[in-house]
Amino acid sequence: MIQGFLKPYCNNKKKGYGDTSMKRIGMLTSGGDCQSLNATMRGVVKGLQELVAGGVEIYGFENGYKGLIYGNYRKLSGKDFSGILTTGGTILGTSRQPFKQMRVPDENGLDKVEAMKSTYRYLKLDCLVILGGNGSQKTANLLREEGLNIVSLPKTIDNDLWGTDMTFGFQSAVDLATEAIDCIHTTAASHNRVFIVELMGHKVGWVTLHAGIAGGADIILIPEIPYDIRHVISALERRKEQGKGFSILAVAEGAISKEDSELSKKEYKEKLKNRVYPTVGYELAAQIEAMTDFEVRVTVPGHTQRGGQPCPFDRVISSRLGVKAAELIAAEDYGKMVSMKGYEITTTPLGEVAGKLKYVSPDSDIVKQAKHLGISFGD
Ligand code: F6P
Repeated sequence: MIQGFLKPYCNNKKKGYGDTSMKRIGMLTSGGDCQSLNATMRGVVKGLQELVAGGVEIYGFENGYKGLIYGNYRKLSGKDFSGILTTGGTILGTSRQPFKQMRVPDENGLDKVEAMKSTYRYLKLDCLVILGGNGSQKTANLLREEGLNIVSLPKTIDNDLWGTDMTFGFQSAVDLATEAIDCIHTTAASHNRVFIVELMGHKVGWVTLHAGIAGGADIILIPEIPYDIRHVISALERRKEQGKGFSILAVAEGAISKEDSELSKKEYKEKLKNRVYPTVGYELAAQIEAMTDFEVRVTVPGHTQRGGQPCPFDRVISSRLGVKAAELIAAEDYGKMVSMKGYEITTTPLGEVAGKLKYVSPDSDIVKQAKHLGISFGD
């Protein structure tokens, strides 16, 4: 257990809330990281310092739920949240602790849910602030059902959280993915090649869709719209006939063929185990080369999409989302995920968020408009 020093911050009397008692807040970042985690935590703490009359004590749990389970935390001061608006990663560290495993005792027989509740009670926390994606929100909801006061924040580059129009991290990832496509554009044009840029998103295609449009991709393949390889090839041939020597495909790592989309989950998993290519991008490249004369190259930006500094847009929404979390805590309004509707910051009950994903709808305006730009989805 690492302990730091916290000087409770007591502000003046301009507070909008009546409660003048000190608040003890736990905080953790869970699941895959993204660019704007630190900016969001900074927003929460700055907001609390302004809004909670009696001052705050902040306990940061290390490496996500692991820290809460095993009591690894440190007491943080306002200083810890200074200078982190622009930094990527998370000052608390993170880890993946699958929701499915939460009710399964660890290798020493420890009941993880009871352990988390006991850490919360030992520290006499008033609230636990959880920054996480889909699985982490499910665990947040489980803890809410177990009686803990929870406020959660929507983190993920995938933008697939139900109950919010946007997650923080998404726009930064789109910027980086677009930059990758932009760089590929010039080399693809010079060599008259077909390039596949494989982007993150196993279950959803938000990053690929947005970066594909922003980067001027000719073909966009996402998990929500299964492709037919013959249609992909027709789109490439069409461009060639129009005198365009190169083409760019933005492909989500979870893109799936029509044929495979008809398999059961179990059958598809089995098929993937035996796939000779490392990823869908390489498989597509081999298929295209086998069926045409095109020379194909594959680029996989991978985790660079989650790295580096948050873009200004993410810094703004993270700061606003963080302050909203502080407002909820100051008002003792718990059990909610802070969310976005349009460009407004609002809240969604955790019970509604947990267990649902927000997919790209094949009938959505953005997909229709992309098609009207001449982009093929291979469908
Ligand atoms: O959920 C965020 C994400 O980056 C997905 O887009 C990607 O499929 C996955 O995490 C990668 O996970 P990991 O970092 O555990 O390899």
